[in-house]
Amino acid sequence: MFASNTGRRARSRISTKSDLSVQAEQVSDKATAASKAARKPVARRKPFVVVPSAAEMPSERGGLPPKIARYLATADLPSPCLVVDVDIVAHNFSELATSLPDARIFYAVKANPADEIVSRLAGLGSSFDTASMGEIDLCLGHGVSPDRLSFGNTIKKERDIADAYKKGVRMFAFDSDAELEKIARVAPKSKVYVRVLMQCEGAEWPLSRKFGCEPEMAADLLVRAQELGLDPYGVSFHVGSQQTDLTQYDKALSQTVSLFEEVARRGIKLRMVNMGGGFPSRYRTDVPSIAAYGEAIRNALTARFGADQPEVIVEPGRGIVGDAGVIQSEVVLVSQKGGSDTRRWVYLDVGKFHGLAETMDEAIKYRLTTPHDGEETSPVVLAGPTCDSADILYEKADYRLPVSLVAGDKVWILATGAYTTTYSAVAFNGFPPLASVCI
Ligand SMILES: Cc1ncc(COP(=O)(O)O)c(C=O)c1O
Repeated sequence: MFASNTGRRARSRISTKSDLSVQAEQVSDKATAASKAARKPVARRKPFVVVPSAAEMPSERGGLPPKIARYLATADLPSPCLVVDVDIVAHNFSELATSLPDARIFYAVKANPADEIVSRLAGLGSSFDTASMGEIDLCLGHGVSPDRLSFGNTIKKERDIADAYKKGVRMFAFDSDAELEKIARVAPKSKVYVRVLMQCEGAEWPLSRKFGCEPEMAADLLVRAQELGLDPYGVSFHVGSQQTDLTQYDKALSQTVSLFEEVARRGIKLRMVNMGGGFPSRYRTDVPSIAAYGEAIRNALTARFGADQPEVIVEPGRGIVGDAGVIQSEVVLVSQKGGSDTRRWVYLDVGKFHGLAETMDEAIKYRLTTPHDGEETSPVVLAGPTCDSADILYEKADYRLPVSLVAGDKVWILATGAYTTTYSAVAFNGFPPLASVCI
């Protein structure tokens, strides 16, 4: 299903195209049918359905994932457009479930809320971390029962907490006294977990400062939760998104265990640790395998909690959908500025306002491929198409593109399945939002 009007127009064009695109349509239609069938509540499954990997993964050299490459070879798409291979999503989910067999996986819907992705993950037994009523309603609409939802945003309107509670959600995050009071007022007896501050060292997209509170304050808040008639369930943290330093989970767990002990001294037995996300996509630098993450986390849990293991939740977003997506874009202009800077400026039809927001401060460095790969390259500044000088993707990071690249050429931006479509502006400069298709 396409995510924008432009996309919807394109979809009807595709349906009249070649066999391959028709095939992809059928895959997509199956997903839609599955999503319709899934509208009745799906009971929580444990252990997860670990599907044998039917997904065709990107090669070691990291080009386009094969199914996406075949689709793009014939599909008539608007440009730019994100293409997501939902089989890779399922593969990534299953790999994580295998690596952390005792954890419950709550997919972070914010990473990519496409219907086909939510529906496929629901069918595999995933639970869902949600940030808003929009995401809660989306999951409920796919037949996910409310006991598989967590309202994980620490910043919620009281009326949204009340609405979520009315719809059956009973698990809420908080990191402040005022938020706890709201939950106590409108979601009595719910399970609540406190988020603690993290430094997020080593993460390419840190989630520090804004979320969480100091551990001492967290202990007080958990005691307060009990006084307010809530169920003090546990502790959550996020080590930062695209976290490739595996020791960070152990550091966070060492802090968590101290908090468990402090709260136990005050008469409350916590039961759950929510370890957030941090699992990676493969951008320009190599990343540890999901198996390595699983091992680091399992070892850290054993070292810190010994025989008294808590329930464990993880909330992966990027690690599930990032590598499953490719943005197909087009070169609009190649130019130079004169003077001493001899670099070419390559302007694409996709930019910071079309979903590539994580290029802010050049934090996330996507891999690019073009039809001219293998030819001579030279350094470039890469920018988007809008009349905003902030719309520059990479100026400091060393990006090189083929010298032969000209306007009209395609540029494929790899591992863009996470945090792109939802970041896209509605109509900045009159450009439509990033279209997307799941195959
Ligand atoms: C509460 C929460 N959980 C999970 C995630 C997903 O993190 P990641 O994409 O690193 O897996 C986020 C990301 O913002 C988050 O805020």
